[in-house]
Amino acid sequence: MSIDIFLNKVFITGDEATYIAKAIAGSQNGEMISGDGSFTHRASEYLEKKFHVDQVLLTHSCTAALEMAAILADIQPGDEVIMPSYTFVSSANAFVLRGGVPVFVDIRLDTMNMDEKLIEAAITDKTKAIVPVHYAGVACEMDRIMELAEKYNLIVIEDAAQAIFSNYKGRPLGTIGHLGCFSFHETKNIVSGEGGALFINRPEMTARAEIIREKGTDRKAFLEGRVDKYTWRDIGSSYLPSDMLAAFLLAQLEHGEEITERRMKAWNIYDEILRPTGLLQLPEYGNSNQPNGHMYFGLVHDASKRRAFINGMAEQGIQALSHFVPLHTSPAGEKFCRISGSMDNTVSGATRLVRLPMYCGVEEHATRIANTAKEVLSGL
Ligand SMILES: Cc1ncc(COP(=O)(O)O)c(C=O)c1O
Repeated sequence: MSIDIFLNKVFITGDEATYIAKAIAGSQNGEMISGDGSFTHRASEYLEKKFHVDQVLLTHSCTAALEMAAILADIQPGDEVIMPSYTFVSSANAFVLRGGVPVFVDIRLDTMNMDEKLIEAAITDKTKAIVPVHYAGVACEMDRIMELAEKYNLIVIEDAAQAIFSNYKGRPLGTIGHLGCFSFHETKNIVSGEGGALFINRPEMTARAEIIREKGTDRKAFLEGRVDKYTWRDIGSSYLPSDMLAAFLLAQLEHGEEITERRMKAWNIYDEILRPTGLLQLPEYGNSNQPNGHMYFGLVHDASKRRAFINGMAEQGIQALSHFVPLHTSPAGEKFCRISGSMDNTVSGATRLVRLPMYCGVEEHATRIANTAKEVLSGL
């Protein structure tokens, strides 16, 4: 049987093409279609108001937002940055590009997030920053992380690539640390094909951030009439998305709540069917979290059965997949990073994790998917 339900399917709100056409038409009337045009402003303002952020700068990816964050945090060769090994490459690579050394701490198996109890032991006099990665849009223990940051004078950069519209104790993820990095890649809840944003939560960082994003120039200040010509001020790169991308993004953001609700509906259907069976080790989110339905995952009890589960689902037309390969086991991770303490949970979780299809619209199929998962798991 061929796959008829894929892990991800992009949800189209219907307004994307209209907004992009407006951006194109505007380019014939003196409006900018490059970065920082009217849709860039509208999408950034939407995010600033919705999540009460000092400044939101759209980027062309979360990778770009993380690279900007590494420059803003002033990472110098040899500076250490604490993060989980169970994450996407960019969380670490952005800092390695600046000569920084990612230091991995183990994760908790109830969330797959960095274990906050292990962070303090990883802090040395070279530590400059902590990068909590909110896996599946579920919050790391931010109170403890911010307490440590205060105590040791560290910068907190939230990798909120998967966490748009998630909250921790009522506060939006990506707004708690100094900086928050978001992805609008097609696999995320809110998409623009490729895309991202940097949330700047400390007013003292905003001026430099807009220069870094504009190839190290003060072009943004020039466009806004704050300087009469623009010039090279600092290091930076071209991290700005075109206004057409921002037009697509705005169309998605305006439906953000509906998208989140529909994904959570699917998440709840899966959970109601699968949790009572005990066939998967499922995450425990606790009361601090209001997640965004980014992902439904569980751990098979026996890693050697994961492939059979994935194949069994595929035989029924449903795509289920594993996820990250821990960075400390990768060739570049071995070369550029170091571990702090045991990585037992990271390895155990990464070799047992499976994800079920999750997208806006999958709620219609969620009962079939969960029942199929139950059947396949029971037969392993
Ligand atoms: C945790 C995490 N960080 C960073 C990224 C990079 O995002 P982007 O593809 O927008 O650069 C991803 C993408 O999947 C991610 O999952």
